[in-house]
Amino acid sequence: MTSNPWWRSAAVYQVYIRSFGDGNGDGVGDIAGIRSRLGYLRELGVDAVWINPWYVSPMVDGGYDVADYRDIDPTFGTLGEVLAFIEAAHDHGLRVIVDMVPNHCSAEHPWFRAAVAAPPGAAERKRFHFRPGRGQTGELAPNNWRSSFGGPAWTRVADPDGTPGEWYLHVFAPEQPDFNWDNPEVRSEFLDILRFWLDRGVDGFRIDAADRLAKDPALPDVAAVIEEAPGPERGYPAAHEIYRGWRRVADSYPGDRVLVGEIWLELRHRAAYHAPGELHTSFSLDLMCSPWDGPALRAVIDANLESSAATGTPLTWVLGNHDATRVVTRYGREDTRFVQVGGTGGDHGRPAGHSDHALGTRRARAAALLMMALPGGLYLYQGDELSLWEVEDIAPELIADPVWERSGHTDRGRDGCRVPLPWSGSAAPFGFSPDHADSPPWLPQPAAWRSLTAAAQSADPDSTLGLYRAALRIRRAEPGLGDGPLTWLPSGRDVLAFGRPGEFACAVNLSAGPIELPAHRSVVLTSGPLAGGLLPPDTAAWLRAA
Ligand code: NOJ
Repeated sequence: MTSNPWWRSAAVYQVYIRSFGDGNGDGVGDIAGIRSRLGYLRELGVDAVWINPWYVSPMVDGGYDVADYRDIDPTFGTLGEVLAFIEAAHDHGLRVIVDMVPNHCSAEHPWFRAAVAAPPGAAERKRFHFRPGRGQTGELAPNNWRSSFGGPAWTRVADPDGTPGEWYLHVFAPEQPDFNWDNPEVRSEFLDILRFWLDRGVDGFRIDAADRLAKDPALPDVAAVIEEAPGPERGYPAAHEIYRGWRRVADSYPGDRVLVGEIWLELRHRAAYHAPGELHTSFSLDLMCSPWDGPALRAVIDANLESSAATGTPLTWVLGNHDATRVVTRYGREDTRFVQVGGTGGDHGRPAGHSDHALGTRRARAAALLMMALPGGLYLYQGDELSLWEVEDIAPELIADPVWERSGHTDRGRDGCRVPLPWSGSAAPFGFSPDHADSPPWLPQPAAWRSLTAAAQSADPDSTLGLYRAALRIRRAEPGLGDGPLTWLPSGRDVLAFGRPGEFACAVNLSAGPIELPAHRSVVLTSGPLAGGLLPPDTAAWLRAA
């Protein structure tokens, strides 16, 4: 490993493959669609892409239900196309991070099918969590855990003769059975899968639900107040053993391969997963969850800086992803937080209500400059560079997220942030699919996105795309940005002002009125126009400090 690996400062672009670009005209994004847009990503100025799961899958949960970890779903293309894509991305100077989904597979995975076909106690069942039910005849689930998508975390299977049999655990949908990570076959299988992809040139893994693998072997009931399956903040040693093994594999390959955990835990628990010799880092999701509020954001930044200093792992900021309400919509609401209820996914209790998109866009642009000036690396969710908003009026019959069904139609789930990107033109499919495509985009795009297409914004330096391009270019060239120290500058309570090495400064105004910029020699970039030399509300400025 080199002393300053790329991932400590990288700007990574998240490609939600179903919705990025459709190469074959079936209305669903695919590998050909990403490959033909590599030039866009290079011009945007990112260092890497993270691609959501592209493996063979029945797509019950957007590909997070994997039936074959070593092959590509035909909806997206072929393994051969993926290998050519990885090479092409590298030729464009982009690294490739793939999604690894180790907590659960698909109910269609051969191992799970074999487990259901085998009798209770069989070795095939021991790769999963099968248990007899409670109650007189086993009619009650083995414990009281709830699925993160709503409903019980257990489903009962029938014995080969058709009588009701054991139950299996799924902390997400019933079609996503949890692997038993105490089983040595499961552990060695995943080491092999990691090697399979590392051998094919991937630069790292985003590890799905990284904190859910290790469980208390007794699978005890949780206290009634806890709504979902217990998380590993209880610190199961198995989790640490597992990731030490993964790290040894990653580090045995040349070129600084990275393991990034998706861990929805409080910072102090999350940091335990990147103890020395374990994961390289995990997403700092706290920025995304914080309200648009000066003291709250400053507290989040300080806590993350402190944790990063203590563990030596860099920060990995996130403002949006495929599980969260779009940043423009959040910041345009009265309640600007993102609240993750139910571990992963699910809208239960998420702030809702009317959103002022113009206000949200202004704030999201300021937040982008804030995030890109902070120490560490960052993940940009596709479409945030176009200021796309959450699509909140998808017709119920088109909603694909399992959260919709599992919540008894009380929660519309996450499709609103997964609508296919608008690339060009003045009507759907906005260049997402080729001309004369066979099918419309898998989720309908709002007509109003005609003004937000990549083509429309490309020509306008004041557009959000123009801002992202300029900011990423500066960020790359500026030696003091990325990983490194931050110094807070004196400022009012509702202003975030800090310096970075090389006389670089960033100021964000979260107050209600315009403010004086901190002392500076020149203005490098702003997220919106200055007003008579003052920084207006909800605006950020990058400065060459005095
Ligand atoms: C987290 C992923 O980001 C989400 O989309 C998925 O539904 C769950 N993990 C389950 O795999």
